[in-house]
Amino acid sequence: MRTLQVKLPGREYDIDIGSNILQEQLPDFVLKKETDLAIVVTNTTLQNLYPDHISNVLKDTGVRVKTCILPDGEQYKNLDTLSRIFDFLMNVSANRKTLLIAFGGGVIGDMAGFAAATFVRGIPYIQIPTTLLAHVDSSVGGKTAVNHPLGKNTIGSFKQPEYVCIELSFLNTLPSRELKAGYIELLKHGIIHDEKLFDYAQNHSLEPLDFDYLEEAIFRSCAIKVRVVEQDETEAGIRATLNFGHTLGHLIETHAGYGKYLHGEAVGTGICFAAFVSWRRNELPENEWERIKSYLSKIITPIKLPPLQKEQFRELILHDKKAHKQAVNFILLNKLGESFIQQETSVEMLWNEFNAFAENCPELVELG
Ligand SMILES: NC(=O)c1ccc[n+]([C@@H]2O[C@H](COP(=O)([O-])OP(=O)(O)OC[C@H]3O[C@@H](n4cnc5c(N)ncnc54)[C@H](O)[C@@H]3O)[C@@H](O)[C@H]2O)c1
Ligand SMILES: [Zn+2]
Repeated sequence: MRTLQVKLPGREYDIDIGSNILQEQLPDFVLKKETDLAIVVTNTTLQNLYPDHISNVLKDTGVRVKTCILPDGEQYKNLDTLSRIFDFLMNVSANRKTLLIAFGGGVIGDMAGFAAATFVRGIPYIQIPTTLLAHVDSSVGGKTAVNHPLGKNTIGSFKQPEYVCIELSFLNTLPSRELKAGYIELLKHGIIHDEKLFDYAQNHSLEPLDFDYLEEAIFRSCAIKVRVVEQDETEAGIRATLNFGHTLGHLIETHAGYGKYLHGEAVGTGICFAAFVSWRRNELPENEWERIKSYLSKIITPIKLPPLQKEQFRELILHDKKAHKQAVNFILLNKLGESFIQQETSVEMLWNEFNAFAENCPELVELG
C-alpha cells in the first residue's frame, strides 16, 4: 500500500492506494471519526456487483450504516438525484456528525461530495472510488458538482474529502472500455507534468491488470494532481493545466451527443489535438508529438464526428467553462512533461488547427 498526504490549510488528509486494503483501512478511519451513523451513497450497478459491501466492511465497528442507492449514469447527475440524497439524509435524521461515504465512480463521487458540502452547511465525507477515472482524477482534489441541462458540472462547490481509499481490486469488474478511458487521465498527468510517469506507463500494458504496476502508476498520477491542487485549490492558475485536452474533448462529447464517447475517449483525442497544436506552434519538439500520438492512438478509439461548421465550432468552444472574452485559455506543451496556459487563444486559430489535425490524423478523428 502507498499513502499520499494532501496538505491544504487546515484540511489534511490521506489517500491510501493498494489492493485488498479497504477491509483493513476503512474501519480504522471510521472508528477515529467517532460518528454513530455513516451513509453510503452508491448506485444500482455497484450494489448488484458488491451487495452491501461497505456495510459489511464496517460491521464490527458498531457504527450504524445505511445505504442510499441511486440510479446509474451521467444522465442522473443532476439536482433531482441530489434531492434524493437529501431526502435520504433527512429520513434517517442525519446530522453534522454523520459521515457520508461515496462508493462508486466519478458520478457518485461528485454527487455525494456536493451533498456533503451543502447538507446542514457541510458534513464530513470520504471517497471510495471504484473506476480508474475516479482513482486517478475525480476522487482527488475536492471538486464536486451536478450538471444543469445547459451545462456540465455547473452547480457545485469545492469540498475536500477527509479520506480517500483507492481499492484497486474493484477494477477487476470494470469494463475494459471504462478502464482505458480512465487511463487517459492518468497519462494526461504524465504528459503535462511528469515525463517519467509517461515513460513508466509506456513500458507497461494496462491489461491484463497488474496491481503492482497500477499501484505505482496511480500513486504517481495522484501525486501530480495533489501537488497541483495544493498550490491552487480553486483553479485560479496552475490547476487549469489539468484541463489539458479538455477543450476539444468537451466539444467532442457535446457534438457527438452525450454518451456516444466516454469522457476519457474524447479527452484522449483532445490531448492529441493539443499536442499537435503545441508542435505546430513550435513549442513541442516533433518527436515528442509523434510519441504522444503513437502511444495514445493505440489506446483510444477513433472519433467519428458529425459534420461541423466553423460557427458551430466557435459556439461549442465558447460555451466551455474555460472561455473568456470570446477566446479560450488553451493548455499547450512546451515539452513532454511540461505544460503552460495560453491565455486568450483565438477560436479562429483553433478552427484552422482543428482542420489541419483532422487532415493529418485520420486515425484519430474523422469528420462526417
Ligand atoms: N470532481 C472531479 O475532479 C472530476 C474529475 C474528472 C471527472 N469527474 C466526473 O466524473 C464522472 C465520470 O466518472 P467515471 O468515469 O468514474 O463514470 P461513472 O461514475 O459513470 O462510472 C462509469 C460506469 O462504471 C460503473 N462502475 C463503477 N465502478 C465499477 C466497478 N468497479 N465495476 C463495474 N462497473 C463499475 C458505473 O456504475 C458506471 O456505469 C463525470 O461526471 C465527470 O464529470 C469529476
Ligand atoms: Zn477529465
